[in-house]
Amino acid sequence: MRISVIGCGYLGAVHAASMAELGHEVVGIDVDERKIADLCAGRAPFYEPDFGELLQHSLASGRLSFSTDVADAAGAQVHFVCVGTPQKHGEYAADLRFVQAAAESLLQVIEPGELVVGKSTVPVGTAAELARMFGEKVPGSLLAWNPEFLREGFAVRDTLHPDRLVYGVPDGPDAETIVAVLDEVYAPIVATGTPKVVTDYATAEMVKTAANSFLATKISFINAMAELCEATGADVKQLADAIGFDDRIGRKFLNAGLGFGGGCLPKDIRGFMARAGELGADQALTFLREVDNINMRRRIRMVELAREVCDGSLLGKHIAVLGAAFKPDSDDIRDSPALNVAAQLQLQGAVVTVTDPAAIENSRRQWPQLDYAATPEEAAERADAVLVLTEWRQYRELDPVAFGEVVARKRVLDGRNALDREAWTAAGWTYRALGRRAG
Ligand code: UGA
Repeated sequence: MRISVIGCGYLGAVHAASMAELGHEVVGIDVDERKIADLCAGRAPFYEPDFGELLQHSLASGRLSFSTDVADAAGAQVHFVCVGTPQKHGEYAADLRFVQAAAESLLQVIEPGELVVGKSTVPVGTAAELARMFGEKVPGSLLAWNPEFLREGFAVRDTLHPDRLVYGVPDGPDAETIVAVLDEVYAPIVATGTPKVVTDYATAEMVKTAANSFLATKISFINAMAELCEATGADVKQLADAIGFDDRIGRKFLNAGLGFGGGCLPKDIRGFMARAGELGADQALTFLREVDNINMRRRIRMVELAREVCDGSLLGKHIAVLGAAFKPDSDDIRDSPALNVAAQLQLQGAVVTVTDPAAIENSRRQWPQLDYAATPEEAAERADAVLVLTEWRQYRELDPVAFGEVVARKRVLDGRNALDREAWTAAGWTYRALGRRAG
């Protein structure tokens, strides 16, 4: 099939290359010339395991191309909308300007019978509005909502092997045609028996925001337990293990620590609250405000813990921060809890050196006032405390004995409950973590 993908960020670029991998002829469109130049040259514009290889493989097959000109999307049978929906400045609501721009540019090329498929995370009601607009301006065109659930760091795997497909389709006779087209797009995925939910637009849109809200709630739940563990002397990691054995609860997404960040969970729960307010149903989601509050408190608590460990004052203390990305295997620093803590420490008088395997360049651009080092050893040279704030494998596997040679004081704060506490304490480190007793 001929497919266009509008918007080539994390979602769109990975989707475009993955669709080519499935055998389709794909053109990715983006207004950002640098991004398109990188993609055309087979260079991934962001860090994402397996994406570089997939991109090069798809380009070499001749089935994948990129362009800044939406005219190159003409003639495609399916047009995916994969643009970002960031949080509006100074408001909770999602900024839909890129979705609107994508829809308007598609109006220049789309023909009756072609299918527009929204993948961006949007406030419920957006798809119905877009369907009305396309129906009016290009009678006979079709629209579906097909949310994406990929995680950064696993984007390729999640796109090619999703745990479910959700098709939001209109009422009426077009529904069957749309389902058939989407089944053809995803044929190899459908063939493996991937669960599929065919539903209306509003449900499809809500599946995405509800899923992200549930995940955020799960993380904040265990972090609220961590606060209680700190008050009672209990251990949040063992608590999570023990409740996680109940498969109604499950152990996944129960890792207590610095909490969630990134370009999705924080803005999605806020956008969901804003939309509920507009619909007169804000009470239904007031709990998400508390989810957000618990999450933000973890960052403040981490700074307090660092102060405690540094004998009550951060002034002039050398602190090494291991990790800048919002999660491992990503160079994404949007709303990164690690950088938030690093900046707070710096503002309170500490001398902070940050290291990260992939996100230093992005961090330096956004936080030029922090110092950066290429390796944990360089960052920790003569440090008074080491904070592990993103659980990269490289940091989880640090040898606490050798690493102890570098620092001035062997004090480690495990912001992600990711280190082997016994090994670090046995090597003479003072070990502190959120939700756990001092080790
Ligand atoms: C999230 C969802 O997991 C995806 O399903 C969704 O498609 C995506 O948002 C999106 O809306 O596009 P992502 O933002 O890549 O994916 O990252 P997650 O793996 O969900 O992690 C989010 C944050 O939660 C990270 O900062 C991570 O460190 C934190 N986290 C995660 C915890 O603090 N504890 C946990 O147990 C798990």
